[in-house]
Amino acid sequence: MSSPAPQLVFYQRRLFHKTSYLAVQRYMIFQRIISIITFSADHGNNVRFHTPNLASNSMITGQIMNSHDGAKVLQAQTHVWNHNLSFIKSMSLKCVVDLGIPDHIHNYGKPMPLSNLIASLQIHPSKTQCIPRLMRIMTHSGFFSQHNVTENELDVEYALTDASKLLLKNHPMSLAPLLHFNLDPIMTKPWHELSTWFKNGDVTPFETAHGMLLWDYAGYEPKLNHLFNDAMETDTQLITSVVIEKCKGVFMGLESLVDVGGGTGTMTKAIAKSFPQMQCIVLDLPHVVAGLQGSENVKYVRGDMFETIPPADAILLKWILHDWNDDECMKILKKCKEAITREGKKGKVIIIDMVIDDEKRDDESVQTQLFLDMLMMVLVTGKERNKKEWIKLIYSAGFSDYKITPVLGLRSLIEIYP
Ligand SMILES: C[S@@+](CC[C@H](N)C(=O)[O-])C[C@H]1O[C@@H](n2cnc3c(N)ncnc32)[C@H](O)[C@@H]1O
Repeated sequence: MSSPAPQLVFYQRRLFHKTSYLAVQRYMIFQRIISIITFSADHGNNVRFHTPNLASNSMITGQIMNSHDGAKVLQAQTHVWNHNLSFIKSMSLKCVVDLGIPDHIHNYGKPMPLSNLIASLQIHPSKTQCIPRLMRIMTHSGFFSQHNVTENELDVEYALTDASKLLLKNHPMSLAPLLHFNLDPIMTKPWHELSTWFKNGDVTPFETAHGMLLWDYAGYEPKLNHLFNDAMETDTQLITSVVIEKCKGVFMGLESLVDVGGGTGTMTKAIAKSFPQMQCIVLDLPHVVAGLQGSENVKYVRGDMFETIPPADAILLKWILHDWNDDECMKILKKCKEAITREGKKGKVIIIDMVIDDEKRDDESVQTQLFLDMLMMVLVTGKERNKKEWIKLIYSAGFSDYKITPVLGLRSLIEIYP
């Protein structure tokens, strides 16, 4: 395919800087002229410049431009461009964290002038001009605020926002490891296989990309195991502090708890510290708990939750059920029920997961929930569930009652009883 003529590029650029009616009109006329020229070119003339799509669809374009409000078409074009280029948000964010920009601004102790920021970064001198552009998009996305804006670009000062504070490397609840995990090429490769997976018999796009399921790959590839565990630990740190502060009552009176798929035990250790009389077990796959040291009231057990779950007053399932499809969840929940109902006792299962409910949420929250649902489809066999789906699952697995407490941001605490 030949590239667009310089004139066309010039007009398109101008168009996106000027939204005036006049500019739109001029663009439309120009597009139509180009379409006609290209249409002629397609039919044997020697004109070399070419507008892809417009050439082969010049009739359609003509109809749209004639019959429709041109501004609507341009708005649609912006919408497509925006979605096409949305990965730039993620990758720019990763770059900012890789360069340590939030940490440099934090260490400066007050809003940091651009010139100081540039001087503090370990970048090649030829790239200094590009930092303001990186900062501009990240400021636009709410990761930095700008102060002292003057004629001199280098005077501008940057401060952290609540979002970028969560990306500081030493912040106890830093989300930087989650970012590294989700944007690692191992995790992004399956997205290129999504449409292939729709047409083949593989279990997940992750399997299409890597030839095995995520849990097996994490056991085979130490890099993924570490990325995964680090990401889970930091997420759990944030959630745990909220759970212990706002939902302490949920754990009152429990003598024992098993954290099923509890990873490296971040949540269990915090619960065990707040409730020293409680005996806790972290159950996870061998490669996750290998070499981890327990404590007075925390034990690590290697195992498979589909096989056996040790008996306890309560089972914790944090970010577990969304990894699995309904049949798999039923199997896990039935094992949980066995574990909490032995010896005539009736304990409970404590689930921390999302309840999708688009009515009450703002746009960003709804979109984030939908992103996570897609993530579960691409990486594992799971999904995010709405309230109706949760209730169906809970009752089908043989539980008789539930309580949903939506105090964890996008996630909820769900207690279920046998
Ligand atoms: C999304 S992570 C959640 C980890 C932890 N609950 C948290 O929120 O930080 C899912 C966990 O389930 C574990 N897992 C996967 N399959 C398992 C199985 N068959 N038996 C036990 N654990 C399993 C994984 O190793 C991983 O640690």
